[in-house]
Amino acid sequence: MSTTPSTGHDEIDSQHVELDRLVDKALAICSEGNHSAAGCVACPPDRQANCRREVMALTRELLKFMAGHFRYEEQLMRRLPENDVCREHVKRHKRAHADISAWVSALTAKLATADPYAVATELRRILMDWTGAHASGLDSGMVKLHQQTGHGELDEDAELTKLLEQAGKLK
Ligand SMILES: [Fe+2]
Ligand SMILES: [Fe+2]
Repeated sequence: MSTTPSTGHDEIDSQHVELDRLVDKALAICSEGNHSAAGCVACPPDRQANCRREVMALTRELLKFMAGHFRYEEQLMRRLPENDVCREHVKRHKRAHADISAWVSALTAKLATADPYAVATELRRILMDWTGAHASGLDSGMVKLHQQTGHGELDEDAELTKLLEQAGKLK
């Protein structure tokens, strides 16, 4: 069970609950434990094909969620004041979003040939390492920068609300 730490921003935290749900889905793949140390070779081909579809659907869902969630956070970053600390934060934060999106995309491409169980295992490892650290580091850092600079009142912002609506609340 994954639990992403609170950032102190209600909307970001509620979006992270959705991210947790997707991480839990990744944890549940092949939970029956009928894979062997050798990977998926012990499973019949139709079961392997099912797992491949399941992992593929999850990586697509994740990429879609991440695109909406990162767009939301990056819109908030645009409201930060122009100074070196904020500029450096925005650069690092956007790079981290681009990196995780690229990792998940690369895993999706790998699925064409690799064992679905191996891809699911790598996906779990990346997500478990990334989500908590990112939320407690860069996401919380961004919320603090907004609070310190008096840019904390953002929930009523019309543009952000529109973004959420467009993303269908990111699902
Ligand atoms: Fe972020
Ligand atoms: Fe986030």
